[in-house]
Amino acid sequence: MARRKMKPQNLRSKQWFDNPDNPGMTAIYLERTVNWGLTVEELTCGKPIIGIAQTGSDISPCNRHHIELAQRVKDGIRDAGGIPLEFPVHQIQETLKRPTAALDRNLQYLSLVEILYGYPLDGCVLLTGCDKTMPAMVMGAATVNIPSIVLSGGPMLNGWWNGKRAGSGTVVWEARKLQADGTITYDEFIDVVTKSAPSIGHCNTMGTASTMNALAEALGMSLPSCAAIPAPYRERGQMAYATGRRIVDMVWEDLKPSDILTREAFENTIVANSAIGGSTNAPIHINAIAKHIGVKLDIDDWEKVGHEVPLLVNMQPAGAYLGEEYFRAGGLPAVMNQLLKAGKIHGNAITANGKTMAENVKDATISDEDVIRPYDKPLVKDAGFIVLKGNLFDSAIMKTSVISPDFRKRYLSNPKDKDAFEGRAIVFDGPEDYHHRIDDPSLKIDEHCVLFVRGVGPLGYPGSAEVVNMQPPSALLKAGIRDLPCIGDGRQSGTSGSPSILNASPEAGANGGLAVLKTGDRVRIDLNKRSANILISEEEFAARMAELKKNGGYKVPKSQTPWQEIQRSMVSQLSDGMVLKPAVKYQKIAQK
Ligand code: FES
Ligand code: MG
Repeated sequence: MARRKMKPQNLRSKQWFDNPDNPGMTAIYLERTVNWGLTVEELTCGKPIIGIAQTGSDISPCNRHHIELAQRVKDGIRDAGGIPLEFPVHQIQETLKRPTAALDRNLQYLSLVEILYGYPLDGCVLLTGCDKTMPAMVMGAATVNIPSIVLSGGPMLNGWWNGKRAGSGTVVWEARKLQADGTITYDEFIDVVTKSAPSIGHCNTMGTASTMNALAEALGMSLPSCAAIPAPYRERGQMAYATGRRIVDMVWEDLKPSDILTREAFENTIVANSAIGGSTNAPIHINAIAKHIGVKLDIDDWEKVGHEVPLLVNMQPAGAYLGEEYFRAGGLPAVMNQLLKAGKIHGNAITANGKTMAENVKDATISDEDVIRPYDKPLVKDAGFIVLKGNLFDSAIMKTSVISPDFRKRYLSNPKDKDAFEGRAIVFDGPEDYHHRIDDPSLKIDEHCVLFVRGVGPLGYPGSAEVVNMQPPSALLKAGIRDLPCIGDGRQSGTSGSPSILNASPEAGANGGLAVLKTGDRVRIDLNKRSANILISEEEFAARMAELKKNGGYKVPKSQTPWQEIQRSMVSQLSDGMVLKPAVKYQKIAQK
């Protein structure tokens, strides 16, 4: 039985439904809430009212099965003595939304904040899945700070094509190259890609969705073992029921996001991200959550805390397997157990079930050591991100664990200059420009070039596009050059295994150094020194900047919708989490 801190008469929902000091409003609040069959007795007898934030719909297929899962959440809430009220939030579907789904993370966040704050809710279950839905939901819960718990939707079953695992997204990057070099036709390309999506659920690779849901668990915001259960498995419905039961006790225990989302929890999350081979989108979203709960965390912490952590999870894009094997091998608890035994995480961090992370994972075991490696037999050592700086940007990240042996041989094997490379910059202004010109012979792109894309940050391409991993021109692909170094102020899909340098901040749209880069410039990237520079003098750099300012700065395209304009007027850079700057000062607002 939960240790009760909260008394029934102090429940937040009482202010709406049981407030004799204000009979007029109380009657109105009750009158319309009972019109679909609820009773006044249910709403006033001292049971917690629990919201279920619904992120699934026909236009968000990654999360669509939450429509059914919500029923099991309601069963759990009812059985534990609560009253469930399900509500929709603004929808986000990574693969459908134009120009980019990331634009909507902050809109879904806002829509949740308004509901959690303005409606009679004592606690909330956050239904998450597709990439941005986890950060949007947890950011909203952090701002309002009422008891909240994440229920992930889980990945799709494994995809298969020609007897091989076809992982979401990852297979697209591979198949695109096969189509470009003529190995497969357009119809075969569509066939491969759709075969990677064999069931309900979100991406079955360790892309941004599996990453962010694993990190919800690493933060302590979901029940142990929640993230990895594939969407169609019976355990997913059982987890929905357990989560519904648990949120009621969290209300009685008054266990709020601010009790869980501590600096220790964020450090655990950075470590976990390295060990699972998590998405390069994680720093953006996790830094945003930290900003909204008021914990100090910055982009440099990702290298400081996370770089010297080994990759343990052998899952695409960094490894071989997909979500089903990962779940069977033990999922996140097995990974956290390894990290705990290695002294890499804070075992005392409190989690949603009221226990510490150490209590939750101390007995978790690995059932297949090829899928989840023991700490001392990793796939890659030092698997976290490095943070690069220079005159090109103040910060950009790189996931060094995905540098292939071929890439290392071509660019990083000079014995005199290990871990550094120089090349000729080829600069594209946005993905459309890249598509128009990548095969233009006048650019003379060869294997000594570095591809840049700019104008794709939070201001340039509102929300920041996932376009930094660019494939080389067809002529190079046909000659066997599968990757060129890519750098940009946008993001890249978590399902891409490309070793791009990305999330560059400040972006060209904010007149960062990328804005003055020219095609033909020599650039030098030194991974050891963590530097990335255009090889021009300080005077030349200053002159180019002055010229840029004189011409009114880097031009970004016009906003196409009201929200694009609103977000552009107040959004921070990727290194700062791409948050709405005025929103950050609203913290723990349910307690004010
Ligand atoms: Fe929705 Fe990958 S597209 S999870
Ligand atoms: Mg994505």
